[in-house]
Amino acid sequence: MPSTKGDFTAVRKSIIKVLNQPGYDNYDDDVKHSAGPVLVRLAWHAAGTYDKETNTGGSDGAGMRYEAEGGDPANAGLQHARVFLEPVKQEHPWITYADLWTLAGVVAIEEMGGPKVGFGIFGGSSEIALTNYLAFLT
Ligand code: HEM
Repeated sequence: MPSTKGDFTAVRKSIIKVLNQPGYDNYDDDVKHSAGPVLVRLAWHAAGTYDKETNTGGSDGAGMRYEAEGGDPANAGLQHARVFLEPVKQEHPWITYADLWTLAGVVAIEEMGGPKVGFGIFGGSSEIALTNYLAFLT
């Protein structure tokens, strides 16, 4: 069901649904959430290019959508995570890929039994590299 712009709770629910990917990685009835680790890695690889000296890189712009970054050997395998999240993006077209990838990492950590992770959109813009990076680390 489509959601209202800014309804991150609705996006979280959709992310939770795609965490269970039977047939992917080590999914079985006891170990669900098989997409969880690769979603954490996607969020990390999106955020981890941030350079505070130059304020460049980071999750802003979701560069892995394009071959230059998506095809980088360091990002091998992350296309699975991006494919898993595509139905969530279709369901909630208002969320940016940058924010969706970050939020998916947060939700994956929480759903796999990790701590509650802070997530926030600051300054009225949802595509600021620094804030996405901080949101992931908070
Ligand atoms: C510079 C340090 C790091 C290096 C060199 C590194 C390297 C790697 C490599 C080679 C893989 C295996 C990829 C594959 O073939 O499937 C991997 C997986 C993974 N990494 Fe890292 N990593 C680093 C830091 C991190 C950090 C900081 C995080 C968490 C924030 C992280 C989270 C993960 C996760 C969750 C996976 C498993 C993904 C899956 O199971 O599909 N890594 N990493």
